[in-house]
Amino acid sequence: MCGIIGCVGREDDTLDVLVHGLSKLEYRGYDSAGVALSGDRVDVCKKSGKIEDLKGALEPRSIGGAAGIGHTRWSTHGPPTDANAHPHLDCTGDVAVVHNGIIENYQSLRDELVAVGHTFKSDTDTEVVPHLVEDALADGADNEAAVREAIDRLDGSYAVAVVVSGDDTIYAARNDSPLVLGIDDEDEGRPAYYLASDVPAFRDFTDRVVYLADGEFATLSADGWRVSDVDGNAVDKDVDTVDWDPEETGKSGYDHFMLKEIHEQPRAIRQCLRGRVDEMAATVDIGDLGDLSPTGVQFVACGTSYHAALYGANLLRNAGIPAQAFLASEYATSPPPIGDALVVGVTQSGETADTLSALREARKRGARTLAVTNTVGSTVARECDHELYIRAGPEIGVAASKTFASQLAALNLFTLGTTRVDGKRDIISALRDLPSNIQAILDESQAKAVAETYVDSDAYFFIGRGLQYPVALEGALKMKEITYKHAEGFAAGELKHGPLALVTEDTPVFAVVTGDGEMARKTIGNVKEVEARNAPVVAVTDGQSDVGRYVDAVLEVPETHPQAAAVLANVQLQLVSYYVADELGRSIDKPRNLAKSVTVE
Ligand code: AGP
Ligand code: GLU
Repeated sequence: MCGIIGCVGREDDTLDVLVHGLSKLEYRGYDSAGVALSGDRVDVCKKSGKIEDLKGALEPRSIGGAAGIGHTRWSTHGPPTDANAHPHLDCTGDVAVVHNGIIENYQSLRDELVAVGHTFKSDTDTEVVPHLVEDALADGADNEAAVREAIDRLDGSYAVAVVVSGDDTIYAARNDSPLVLGIDDEDEGRPAYYLASDVPAFRDFTDRVVYLADGEFATLSADGWRVSDVDGNAVDKDVDTVDWDPEETGKSGYDHFMLKEIHEQPRAIRQCLRGRVDEMAATVDIGDLGDLSPTGVQFVACGTSYHAALYGANLLRNAGIPAQAFLASEYATSPPPIGDALVVGVTQSGETADTLSALREARKRGARTLAVTNTVGSTVARECDHELYIRAGPEIGVAASKTFASQLAALNLFTLGTTRVDGKRDIISALRDLPSNIQAILDESQAKAVAETYVDSDAYFFIGRGLQYPVALEGALKMKEITYKHAEGFAAGELKHGPLALVTEDTPVFAVVTGDGEMARKTIGNVKEVEARNAPVVAVTDGQSDVGRYVDAVLEVPETHPQAAAVLANVQLQLVSYYVADELGRSIDKPRNLAKSVTVE
């Protein structure tokens, strides 16, 4: 999920190139960094914390070699410590590996390797790779064959780069995690080749790139580069030229991180589900959490995460478990009786002071606690009894987008994994379809046109029922945060109890209406109330009901299970807010007065 850089052929400045590349990857967010250079031996330096900390650790040392790899880590397995930072070594210290992604079958590989005498120095999934390479080398394989053998054993998502002592080659492979080569061999002088998870890492040295595809394997040395398929057959690759402005490359061509992150949602959800759902067997595997069997759940959370918590509480109640969501900042003012309830903190950052303090209050009262978070090693993960990681990858935009989608997916996993909810197979299959359904929305959304039509409005209202109520709240929060316009979300049925007085012809109402049951019918009734006050109405709908007949514009979402429909509807609302904010020229990634992680109460 985080950053890789590698280079060969740079003679004396390999280390400088690696450190420069890592600093270019900083924008992605990371918690540790490290480098390995291979000469007669493999030299490694790695540190938790910032690149500056790595530089401090490098300063007193002379570390050199012809082939080098570097990494910024965003932990998924094991907290951000020096030992867990990449690169990871085998037992002999001759093989160094950096890895982005998640190796699903790492536990069984680790057990197998430990049983034959390997010693592990980290908690990471990654560390199985150097030990697998070590075994293959011991069996007589050459370096390339040994790395290939190791890669063949991995399930999951990975971009992997490997160096071996006495060899000035980088070996690399990818599956479902990006990897790109940088080619600099046109000018006079010695050619140099680069490898990175993302072009900005080497964009200052070359603009000629080769994108690796899933299943491909690359070797780079000062003598040249080669890409081959799983069977070792050479693959003919195009060398492309990137014409992005080097300053903009971090956003991969998107104008803002938020838009990039909205587009990363299919991948984020895939990552969240990876290895945790089995559609055929209709089962969910969330490890030990599956044994929690909660008899009651209290969620505590803030902002967007609170909306996810409302959704989670709704799912659990549908599964017959008493569940309630609390604003974390209010929880301690009048804490509910805990009984044997599980208290669940939902927090992207894992550092939100209000949420931490609510969880501490719950623990003081004897509650068991669970953290649903994006950040391994965060305070919440350390303090809670259990953790469920949403695996969305780092989010740079202050306004939460992909992490909300991943929170909803993770809360589905939690409900499926801990309760006897009906229709598991259908829900699992709808979760599996989420990435392609989100992609269809991203490809076809009319949100930009809707945003342009209503950009000058006085205020925006969002209504929804059931699972779409938290989506209405989230739609309004996003609009407030990034456009600075007045926006409110309401339970559709509440509108007539007061807020309707705010509705005028200058206040568009976004109505989320999916399905064609009782709830849709009632929300359509609310749409008509709004229409009668001449407010423009935009329906976010899957077309199952006839809401389209009564509204001014429609934003379509694919038809799916109601639990997944909330995730889809939210994508359309994210896009509307984004485009309104863009039209208004707002500071979308860093809205005024807001911080990504709120560490004060
Ligand atoms: C969301 O766009 C906001 N940045 C904010 O509401 C956020 O969700 C809230 O501060 C909670 O943060 P957390 O998930 O990191 O705990
Ligand atoms: N799963 C690996 C770890 O936790 C790699 C994480 C990353 O992509 O940075 O170390």
